[in-house]
Amino acid sequence: MCGIVGFTGQENALPILMRGLYSLEYRGYDSAGIAAFTEDGLKVIKTKGRISNLEEKLRGEGSFSSTCGIGHTRWATHGGPSDRNSHPHLGGRDGKVAVVHNGIIENYLFLRGQLEKHGYVFQSETDTETVAHLIDYLHTGRQEDLAQTVLKALSLLRGSYALGVVSMDDSSEIVAARRDNPLIIGLGEGENMIASDITAIISRTRRYIILDDNEVAVVRPDRVTVYNQLGDVVDKPVQEVNWDLSAAEKGGYAHFMLKEIMEQPRAFSDTVRPRIQDGEIVFEDNGLTDERLREAGHIHLIACGSAYHAGMVGKAVIEELGRVRCSVSVASEFRYSNPIIREKDLCIVISQSGETADSLAALRQAQRAGAFTLAVVNVVSSTIAREADGVLYTWAGPEIAVATTKAYSAQLAALYLIAAKVAKARGLLDRQTERELCGALLQLPDSIREMLEQIKTVQYLASKYANRSSVFYLGRGLDYAAAMEASLKLKEISYVHSEAYAAGELKHGTISLIEEGTLVVALATQRHLYEKTVSNIREVTARGAEVVLIAAEDFDGDVSACKNVIRLPACMERFAASLSIIPMQLFAYYVAVERSCDVDKPRNLAKSVTVE
Ligand code: M6R
Repeated sequence: MCGIVGFTGQENALPILMRGLYSLEYRGYDSAGIAAFTEDGLKVIKTKGRISNLEEKLRGEGSFSSTCGIGHTRWATHGGPSDRNSHPHLGGRDGKVAVVHNGIIENYLFLRGQLEKHGYVFQSETDTETVAHLIDYLHTGRQEDLAQTVLKALSLLRGSYALGVVSMDDSSEIVAARRDNPLIIGLGEGENMIASDITAIISRTRRYIILDDNEVAVVRPDRVTVYNQLGDVVDKPVQEVNWDLSAAEKGGYAHFMLKEIMEQPRAFSDTVRPRIQDGEIVFEDNGLTDERLREAGHIHLIACGSAYHAGMVGKAVIEELGRVRCSVSVASEFRYSNPIIREKDLCIVISQSGETADSLAALRQAQRAGAFTLAVVNVVSSTIAREADGVLYTWAGPEIAVATTKAYSAQLAALYLIAAKVAKARGLLDRQTERELCGALLQLPDSIREMLEQIKTVQYLASKYANRSSVFYLGRGLDYAAAMEASLKLKEISYVHSEAYAAGELKHGTISLIEEGTLVVALATQRHLYEKTVSNIREVTARGAEVVLIAAEDFDGDVSACKNVIRLPACMERFAASLSIIPMQLFAYYVAVERSCDVDKPRNLAKSVTVE
């Protein structure tokens, strides 16, 4: 949801800002812009569309250089994508202040009205321009530094923000602030940066600090000072990036999504291996004590999008192994549903980015209710990871494609581990069964690799079905959870309408949409449901559907009605969702490629959803 970058140092800031923006583009790509200090003052260049449009516009401006500036790539909320609504926004009649913003200012209409009464003229429909004018209003004619003014302005804002602010008063200073939106400060030698995430700084420095809510930072080439809400200086711990630049590059693949699909064996293995020793599930550093797991009356899994689908799988496996009541909720519903949360409950919030606004709000709600909260998160030191009582990191590495694949696989891995740990703590896992479970988990990366080898078959199917206007995914139990994820993957990147249905439910209405040639992808990986699923396949083929079946190795149902069958290698059926999803991710990917879609940056979307 919008990317922010800023640089102040000795070198030309423009290429550094542009590189930073390219690496943040996955966060939003409706428009982009920069503001930089030049000999002639504060220069703002911005445009609707991608960073490449901005680059072209910059070229048209002729050569100029600057050693300090801020940049922004936007996911539109207030005001559609347009040049006018692009950030940075200038504040004041003479444009002395420039602001970039990620988040939503909820009381912007009220503030805008007040500022208009003071003669401020607005150029855009955005909430952000209000912040720029507000800072100008509070700053003009007062002998205080920009940071003090920003602190004052923040006390008048309702909503969420990460902000980068520059002012003509000091052409080497950036003031940064955050509330409920991520912002880090990269620490270099004689130069410093601000950024929405690590990908934008890693080509310059590996050292960074994380700004916390309600803090304001003054960033200059030679120093960074962080203040809290009261204006007191805060001592911030310095963190070090623990992955390489290559992890955030395409590495020869046509798209990040394909690279990340292919990285799934490693993502799964890196999540599972450190937590298994000699056939035993061992992870104790995240507050998941046996006592807590034994006493948990209810486990709430809370997440959005694909992470929610991982939660659906998690619920089934935790309930099956741990025999404890478990519910899975969409975070945006959970937070407003007056949920029943008891002190001994365990709330697990699943999130790749660790910044999703609704998931974060649900986490805070669970904490207020006194429950123990565990974050299953991919991005180290993200807000959800830091605020939860315990964190179980998924080690998928940086995920750049908007459509999640490897992080989803790693989430499944983490949830399987949790399920086994719950069962063990509750005395439901004997040594032998634990050893078998561990063996099965360690074997899964190889089985995922085997699934990936079917890439050509899937590519062929994608070319065959790419022109269909609608695709249905059917499954029961765990297969239904996998179907949900498969359907989301297809629609989000290829824009093909798709629905996932619990196979037995279709005949209660939706079967009316099945007609001659409709593509149905059916899943059958759960032995006790084979016959039922076969009946559902017959129901749709009888109405003209073409069925692609994804089935377990030992599936022995009648497949004569199916056009194609993709087989899973042998695995514990409770883990089958980790294998069945692979061809369906590849299918979505190749359908999107066939349809010339922008696979890594699908329309209207952004990777990290920091607004509710
Ligand atoms: O960062 P999170 O895991 O919290 O994000 C949740 C969803 O926004 C995310 O899974 C989304 O559904 C993906 N784009 C789907 O591919």
